[in-house]
Amino acid sequence: MHDPRLDSLRSALPGLRLATEPDELLHYGRDWTRRWTPAPLAVALPGDTREVQAVLRWASDEGVPVVPSGGRTGLSGGAVAANGELVLSLERMRRVLAFDPVDRSLTVEAGTPLEAVQEAARAHGLQYPVDFAARGSCTIGGNIATNAGGIRVLRYGNTREWVAGLKLVTAAGELLDLNRGLVKNSSGYDLRHLAIASEGTLGVVVEATLRLAPPPPPVATLLLALPSFDVLMQVFQALRERLSLEAFEFFTDVALRHVLAHGAQAPFDTGHPYYVVVDAAAVGPDDPHLLDAFAHCAEQGWVEDGVVAQSHAQALQLWRLREGITEALAPHLPYKNDVAVRVSAMPAFIAEAQALLATHYPGFEVAWFGHIGDGNLHINVLKPAALEQDAFVERCGAVTAHLAGLVERHAGTISAEHGIGLVKKPYLGCTRSAAEIAVMRAVRAALDPAGILNPGKLFDPPSR
Ligand code: MLT
Ligand code: ZN
Repeated sequence: MHDPRLDSLRSALPGLRLATEPDELLHYGRDWTRRWTPAPLAVALPGDTREVQAVLRWASDEGVPVVPSGGRTGLSGGAVAANGELVLSLERMRRVLAFDPVDRSLTVEAGTPLEAVQEAARAHGLQYPVDFAARGSCTIGGNIATNAGGIRVLRYGNTREWVAGLKLVTAAGELLDLNRGLVKNSSGYDLRHLAIASEGTLGVVVEATLRLAPPPPPVATLLLALPSFDVLMQVFQALRERLSLEAFEFFTDVALRHVLAHGAQAPFDTGHPYYVVVDAAAVGPDDPHLLDAFAHCAEQGWVEDGVVAQSHAQALQLWRLREGITEALAPHLPYKNDVAVRVSAMPAFIAEAQALLATHYPGFEVAWFGHIGDGNLHINVLKPAALEQDAFVERCGAVTAHLAGLVERHAGTISAEHGIGLVKKPYLGCTRSAAEIAVMRAVRAALDPAGILNPGKLFDPPSR
């Protein structure tokens, strides 16, 4: 159907690339959640910052809601456009703009995929250490909007630690150049950090200056099969004391079964309840420190089976078991939980969460995996084929309310790294106090008085 607002946009910005075909609206209107039916007004694909500014100026004037859009690999519905919004895709803005060897920084446009950033850093003998399975499709702008974490947070922290500066276009179309790559800057509110994890509600990130780290040490990759969560935490503690861990990830037999059904190769002859895949600094698979640490865990009777990768190809195979989980579970339309507590609170939290889920999800298949070394668990409930999607989501939502209560009692968070978006919005209050949410509302209203930026995401305006 023809919408006169598009004529107005076209005449305000004659050079702007606009996509309006039904398949394009479908493609750009959704993220990796498959719960909402995409229905954007159109998709704007600006080629530079000035066009982004002009689009936002137009949208503010016309009162058109805008959904900023990166690689749309999000899992919380933060980039979904299901209500006639204008999708503002940064995908054409993917240039690496500058490398500074003295500052050890890389400046990129926001639509640059994470993997391209990692490659650019490597080409300069350095690393950009934020990493996760969606690296090829997600973009730096989206990573910043959710403060993305991933598999190396344990060692390097979240995206936030690596953003030395960013350029943000506000709803009014103003360009804010935040922190400008400075290491020290004690000059008032750090608006850069306010923008990080704001899920496109405070402005559109158009450019980022990223800190780079020295290249990672050579690592050995090992996979251990373990009998219980308690043992898993003990193994974590023992390995952390003995080795320099670059990653410590876990998954359960349920998750593994799905990855194997998706074509991965079984690591052991029989199944085991829990697995950890570990990258530890080592001179090679025979590194004596590594073997001592492994032997210690085996002597304690903790390890049911284990393997140290003997080649890079084998390490990739082991990592595929962990990194292939999201894709392998996707056909089962999983209800995804992304909770975190402090690592010290993990054992008690896990015991209570397991009991809670066993009571509330009997008969449902639940796959646990995640970044146990940094306190972040992904609990994925798989939709039984016979159950309608709406009924499934309703059922899971009710259980999430219980889980959110548990997270609150353990002073954790309902979203560690996926963001709040639409999926976790009803539970924000278990992680943030009413006073905090009121401050967030005030900040949002100050930066976006017309409420055009990603409306409905993160939290709603107060009801009148
Ligand atoms: C992961 O850890 O694999 C990602 O957060 C994606 C997911 O949770 O599915
Ligand atoms: Zn994760």
